[in-house]
Amino acid sequence: MIIETIEVGGCRSYILGCTDTHVGAVIDPEISALERYRGLASKHGLSLRYAIDTHTHADHFTASREIARAVGAQVVMSHLSPAPYVDLRLDDGDMLALGALRLQAIATPGHTADSTSLLVRDHVFTGDALLIGGTGRTDLPTGDPEQLYDSLFSRLLKLDPATHIHPAHEYKGRAGSTIGEEIATNPRLQKSDRAEFVAMMRALNINAPTHLTEALRVNMTGKKSVAQLLSEASGAVPFMSMDELSKRITKRQNDLVIVDVREKDLFDAGHLPGAIHLPRGQLELRVNEAFPDPTVRIVTVCEFGKISTLAAATLRSLGFVHAAAMDGGMKAWREAGLAVEA
Ligand SMILES: [Fe+2]
Repeated sequence: MIIETIEVGGCRSYILGCTDTHVGAVIDPEISALERYRGLASKHGLSLRYAIDTHTHADHFTASREIARAVGAQVVMSHLSPAPYVDLRLDDGDMLALGALRLQAIATPGHTADSTSLLVRDHVFTGDALLIGGTGRTDLPTGDPEQLYDSLFSRLLKLDPATHIHPAHEYKGRAGSTIGEEIATNPRLQKSDRAEFVAMMRALNINAPTHLTEALRVNMTGKKSVAQLLSEASGAVPFMSMDELSKRITKRQNDLVIVDVREKDLFDAGHLPGAIHLPRGQLELRVNEAFPDPTVRIVTVCEFGKISTLAAATLRSLGFVHAAAMDGGMKAWREAGLAVEA
């Protein structure tokens, strides 16, 4: 059996593989480590069959779908997961066949309603139900300390004490632990009385993870993060450098229209010489009267260079085949000491 641990920040994900049949699974993959999973799978000669999320993550963007699409694997989650892109949904007690390995799903709700642990031989992937020296929090959407109590004390802690645990988080770099070690030393497990445990979990006051709402939204719906939207837009439009645009303005080359898509107060405070004002919010409303000629060369400008990229992408999708965005925004333009007109 192959187990590779991949750490990204405090998040842990795993590649699990069967040495006899060379089929593998990735557990809790994170989008920024996509190439590492592929690299590790090929290093071990594994063909990935499953991309498994132990629960709906609130702190990172899952890469399950991307991996599944790239290698023809199945996305696996609990049947309680809200994500619409799951191929295979597991109930408590279901087993996945990974070559000669058998992965048994143990429903371990509490951190989230859809939390599922996976037991394979003497190893258990606990997601955020049981961490090394800790437990998952229960204050995020669908979290429930009562359920976590049952998942821990009636399920996970009943496994053979020699079982190795593999959590979805480890912030202190500890290599591993076992159920027995956790029972003995995990501070959260010392309160074995239900009411005391629940009171302790309710009293924890932990900061919300940085990308909480966005990660939840993206992981629950399979739709895009703002960064993804921007990166797709920037792949769909050409850019013009500030230097090039400045030269063209100086030479009074009249072959392009500079469109400032910021709000009026910002435009009035200072814009590129000759720029016309068409705020992003009114682009679709006014585009037909503003640009009757679809072959006109347009360069969009905003404050930081992001909204202008979206605006140029919108113009391109509307058929303005020569729309481009300035590489950089008015902030950078001013800082470069280039000409501004008020
Ligand atoms: Fe989590």
